[in-house]
Amino acid sequence: MSNGLRRKLTSYGDQGFSLFLRKAFIKAMGYSDDALDRPIVGIANTYSDYNPCHGNVPQLIEAVKRGVMLNGALPMVFPTMSIHESFAAPTSMFLRNLMAMETEELMRAQPMDSVVLIGGCDKTLPAQIMAAASSEIPAIFLPTGPMATGHHKGERLGACTDCRRMWGRFRSGEIDEAEIVEVNNKLVSSVGTCTVMGTASTMANLTEVMGLCLPKAASAPATHAERVRLAEATGAAAARLAADGGLTVRELLTPAAIRNALVALQAMGGSTNAVVHLAAICGRLGFKLDMNLLDQLGQRVPLLVDLQPSGQHYMAEFHEAGGVPALLKAVAQELDQTAPTVYGGTIGDVVAAVSDEPGQTVIRAMTDPLKPIGTLAVLHGNLAPRGAVIKQSAASRQLMVHTGRAVVFDSVEDMTIRIDSDTLDVTAEDILVLRNAGPKGAPGMPEAGYLPIPRKLARQGVKDMVRISDARMSGTAFGTVVLHISPEAADGGPLAIIQTGDTITLDVTARRIDLNIDADEFARRMAALPPAAAGPARGYGQLYHDHVMQADEGADFDFMQAPQ
Ligand code: FES
Repeated sequence: MSNGLRRKLTSYGDQGFSLFLRKAFIKAMGYSDDALDRPIVGIANTYSDYNPCHGNVPQLIEAVKRGVMLNGALPMVFPTMSIHESFAAPTSMFLRNLMAMETEELMRAQPMDSVVLIGGCDKTLPAQIMAAASSEIPAIFLPTGPMATGHHKGERLGACTDCRRMWGRFRSGEIDEAEIVEVNNKLVSSVGTCTVMGTASTMANLTEVMGLCLPKAASAPATHAERVRLAEATGAAAARLAADGGLTVRELLTPAAIRNALVALQAMGGSTNAVVHLAAICGRLGFKLDMNLLDQLGQRVPLLVDLQPSGQHYMAEFHEAGGVPALLKAVAQELDQTAPTVYGGTIGDVVAAVSDEPGQTVIRAMTDPLKPIGTLAVLHGNLAPRGAVIKQSAASRQLMVHTGRAVVFDSVEDMTIRIDSDTLDVTAEDILVLRNAGPKGAPGMPEAGYLPIPRKLARQGVKDMVRISDARMSGTAFGTVVLHISPEAADGGPLAIIQTGDTITLDVTARRIDLNIDADEFARRMAALPPAAAGPARGYGQLYHDHVMQADEGADFDFMQAPQ
């Protein structure tokens, strides 16, 4: 295949004319023939006024371009979608697959010999990895980096675990209207991604674990000079990939690399959302994410990273403690260290280069874990034939084995209307059930699985209850919350047959979630379920409804999968 500007010529039936025309147009931007003869590094620009998590992207792009040009290649910046969690209705997850498709096709349609994908806010890196996994273009990733923390009355605040904690205090009447407004000004202190071990930090860390970005590129703060230097170094690495070739994401993401990601996910207190994103990435690679392996690793690899919401610190301390390379060293015995990286060498080389940070307590040793269990557990049972997940590291120990009466909400809207009603018949021992909030049901599987504690219970000081749903939960949230129940209610899953007043048993030690009715009654209710509702009549909503798969398959589109 031709390189540089000669790649992927527009089809006019005359290749010479196609190149002639392309050069004529691009020269309108002032490029010389010398520049246009260089290998090309595409740079995906995900800056958007709607995305403060990517507010530093213009500066990062300048640094990437510098790195590319210092190494003899031509940088070409192109815009792609950008998705921010708080500026995407009905939910950012609804748009992840669209961003993945758009990014993949722009990488394929435009001439580039390698690409730098700059992402950060929750769905962006997963979408970009899905795109690159389906592409033949070598790709290197550049996370935007975590934001700064703020302070309020002597307390440190970081988005967004503290967003939820402070909002919970407001709902329970502990703090008043004036104080919550003050807190609102202090929670997000700079551009960059949420600074706890939410989905953005988890996915950035996993990107580094899988060898797709430079060491420390996941954790260097968004506003530090170190991040800008990492951007320049990323540009340099991309120029080498463009000139000399290199491994594609498909070649890098072997089952061994995915297994390494699962080890790190369990050790870092990572987001439940990572399970859905990794399943989608695996689907693009032609194999299924091994949920049993995830669960088994959670029984061997304890929680080592002391970051909110499972611990107490923020990403800046994780970075100072050595970041992902130090974490990899801590779990080295569980890794396949032969896994290659996009910048050359192996994960074993990264581990070998780690120098210890004396006195740091943020990344613990396997012999001195923060908690003796891993982050995530995979549940089955009559309510979750294809599985469900719980972030056990952020759950209440006394609720890990619990039987309670179901209080059912039929949709996110139903929950929103009734959850705070003084007439809601609910006690702290009940189990809150939310259904029709999965990939098809909501649609887009919103982060509604962290059902708020009903206001009347919150006022009594209740901080946690068992909550179960087919929805997702923000990685920044905490509590005894069972998520991603598959299949979802809107796709005929048994969540649909629960009636308020039934009892449900959650037993995390036995890895089960069960509805306590006899088998005949269970079968009778399943047989009586109405047929699935029709989806939207047009557009992306129709495409999404007709083709989105279940959570255990990554909620990707069926037609985007690689053949298994
Ligand atoms: Fe963008 Fe949290 S809202 S990373």
